[in-house]
Amino acid sequence: MILVTTAGKVGSEAVRLLAERGLPVRVLVRNPAKAKPLAEAGVQVVVGDLDASASIDTAMTGVTAVVLVSPAVPAQELNVVASAARAGVGHIVKATSKASLDSPIARRRGQSEIEAGLAASGVPHSLLRSNAYMQNVLASAPEIARTDGFGSPAGKGRTGMVDARDVAAVAAEIAAAPDAHAGKTYWLTGPQLVSNYDVATVLSRLLNRTITYRELTFEQAKDAMIRAGLPEQIAHMNAQALSLTADGDAEWVTEDVPNLLGRPARSFEQFAADHTATFT
Ligand SMILES: NC(=O)c1ccc[n+]([C@@H]2O[C@H](COP(=O)([O-])OP(=O)(O)OC[C@H]3O[C@@H](n4cnc5c(N)ncnc54)[C@H](OP(=O)(O)O)[C@@H]3O)[C@@H](O)[C@H]2O)c1
Repeated sequence: MILVTTAGKVGSEAVRLLAERGLPVRVLVRNPAKAKPLAEAGVQVVVGDLDASASIDTAMTGVTAVVLVSPAVPAQELNVVASAARAGVGHIVKATSKASLDSPIARRRGQSEIEAGLAASGVPHSLLRSNAYMQNVLASAPEIARTDGFGSPAGKGRTGMVDARDVAAVAAEIAAAPDAHAGKTYWLTGPQLVSNYDVATVLSRLLNRTITYRELTFEQAKDAMIRAGLPEQIAHMNAQALSLTADGDAEWVTEDVPNLLGRPARSFEQFAADHTATFT
């Protein structure tokens, strides 16, 4: 049995792919109503909360491999690691980012803390250290639909952005046959570097209207995210990460996705074409 810890962007696609392969797969969710399509696809849906260790232990029964993906709150993911260690799980595939203990971004320091706990647990594991997800662009979709424009503090910086569906495909691939991946870190990206000016060009072509990108300051971007409903702390970290992008922090592309999946990584053009309805 493979356990996927949440049914967000990566988790829901990973369980869908694992179920499609006919593998036994279980997903832990807080709200089973949201996971109805997954249950209908043959996935075992278990109600739990990453803050409640007992519910994680229940979900861990009979599990051989775990896909650990969540908002990456250290206490929550470390609950999963401890539960997996108690249950003698054979492998954890952990979704992570450019984690580092001295990062200015709290989220990256938290990821580093989780990675250290995972290493200390002794459970064999692999890390999926992904570049920014293409799905982040969807956060600007309401603004694009309304104003034909979007803004960011990423300046002219380019990102090796990866489709979260490809991150999920890699997680599923490893969880299905983990042995060769123990101790490995994969740096997941899309096929090319993309700036927000490129995003605007691709969207303009696909949507058949001119979409304009505006370079914002850190404060302008943070305020806009708060106005759009993000908690202050998350808006702060997102604006920090995007400001680092302006300085080249996300300018990296690897061949890890095609090497692991035996097919090209999805391009931003493909991603945008699959989501045109969201921008209109
Ligand atoms: N976004 C990026 O650009 C990027 C880049 C690199 C790495 N990553 C990493 O990817 C991971 C996030 O993956 P994602 O984008 O797939 O996540 P996501 O779409 O934000 O989904 C998070 C899921 O976690 C669930 N959840 C939240 N708190 C929970 C709790 N206490 N108990 C149980 N479930 C809970 C949410 O459920 P509800 O629906 O109930 O809220 C939601 O389904 C993080 O580790 C992040 O650092 C992200």
